[in-house]
Amino acid sequence: MSEEIKGFSKLSKNEKIEWLTKTCFHQNDKAKKILKQYWNSDNNLQKLHDEFSENTISNYYLPFAIAPNFLINKKLYTVPMAIEESSVVAAASKAAKFWMNNGGFKAEVIATEKIGQVHFLFHGNKKIISDYFDFVKPLFFEKTKSITSKMNSRGGGILDIFLVDKTSDINGYFQIFATFNTVDAMGANFINSCLEEFSHIFYNSTPLFRNDELNNNDIEIIMSILSNHVPNCIVKSVVSCNINELNNLEPKTENFAERLVKAIEIANNDVYRAVTHNKGIMNGVDAVALATGNDFRAIEASAHAYASIGGYKSLSNAYIMNDMFYFELKLPLAIGTVGGVTSLHPLVKIALEILDNPDSKELMKIIASVGLAQNFGALRSLVTTGIQKGHMKMHLTNLLNKYDVTELEKQKAIEYFKNKSVSSSSVDSFIQKLR
Ligand code: MEV
Repeated sequence: MSEEIKGFSKLSKNEKIEWLTKTCFHQNDKAKKILKQYWNSDNNLQKLHDEFSENTISNYYLPFAIAPNFLINKKLYTVPMAIEESSVVAAASKAAKFWMNNGGFKAEVIATEKIGQVHFLFHGNKKIISDYFDFVKPLFFEKTKSITSKMNSRGGGILDIFLVDKTSDINGYFQIFATFNTVDAMGANFINSCLEEFSHIFYNSTPLFRNDELNNNDIEIIMSILSNHVPNCIVKSVVSCNINELNNLEPKTENFAERLVKAIEIANNDVYRAVTHNKGIMNGVDAVALATGNDFRAIEASAHAYASIGGYKSLSNAYIMNDMFYFELKLPLAIGTVGGVTSLHPLVKIALEILDNPDSKELMKIIASVGLAQNFGALRSLVTTGIQKGHMKMHLTNLLNKYDVTELEKQKAIEYFKNKSVSSSSVDSFIQKLR
């Protein structure tokens, strides 16, 4: 049970920890020690991290791992992944190696359009609001030049602006619906700044319009915000090989290609399976997004919205044609390689450097290929040995770490569990017997 506090944000970091540990912990010295253990000894680096967010009291580590051997459009990448889940990086690396030896990933960006909306209410004559929108539209472009000039010089900017009549859904509800090209930036700040300016322009330009026909009190702006649904910001990655190559994969399984195709068919016909199937894809997508400083919440939201167009389905697809197996992933990815934390977080800079400082389109192709590799790895396990075999072996280390095992105990455990199934209870009884 916590307790109310006023002015928490005004406290110093030490004061925040004092209050927190006194309020929420019995053993407050232990909690204090752990929280401070994660501080970085380099004060400047620590300050940088503190200032990424608010009310920061410590750092939260995630493993920063590497999946090598990703051959994408004939270029070899070593991919950084930030993820805590065991097996994910191993599965991605294994799949990458297999596909490297079978032609690699062929990835292409299909479109890069971002979207933003100003939501407003108007209960008057529809012809008037439509005429007013046509009148204001050039002003949206002219009066936002201070925001858009830099983006324009990089080849991006506002693409188009429409008026959308949503009055059949909600009484008096309209949208100013804008499309953007944000080039190498994810563009959230750029889009939101443009949209807020649109709403001011739209609200304040009524005196310039046909005399007395419209009053700004007739327009009620509700909100202005980008949309994370980006069905026109799409990347596709594809792999293919002769089915015999797949049948030779260890562990050897007859009809592996057909079973994988069937697994996708199942996902396309069952939402329970489809969500898990897509979660497996997002294991890879999010891990690279996080390592490269991208907003994985936005990516998740857009991926699942895209998967649900026409009923929630698999984001990936597989088929066999003339003894060739084709496996592809198409997903929306609104990401950036400039702006946000990309130039601030030292590990993000390192991650981008590992990837040879890609532009956003290149990074979209890399992320989609990792998502596809991840899906391949998961389905490979699922339709052959089952997921637990590989997963629990990797998980063994995590289970053992709970017992503060010595290196010798760890080696004994690895040997013991070589051919046995790993579970928290089997590890527990092994440790009890060992000690
Ligand atoms: C686990 O994080 C991901 C999987 O469940 C994905 C899948 O079932 O396809 C293994």
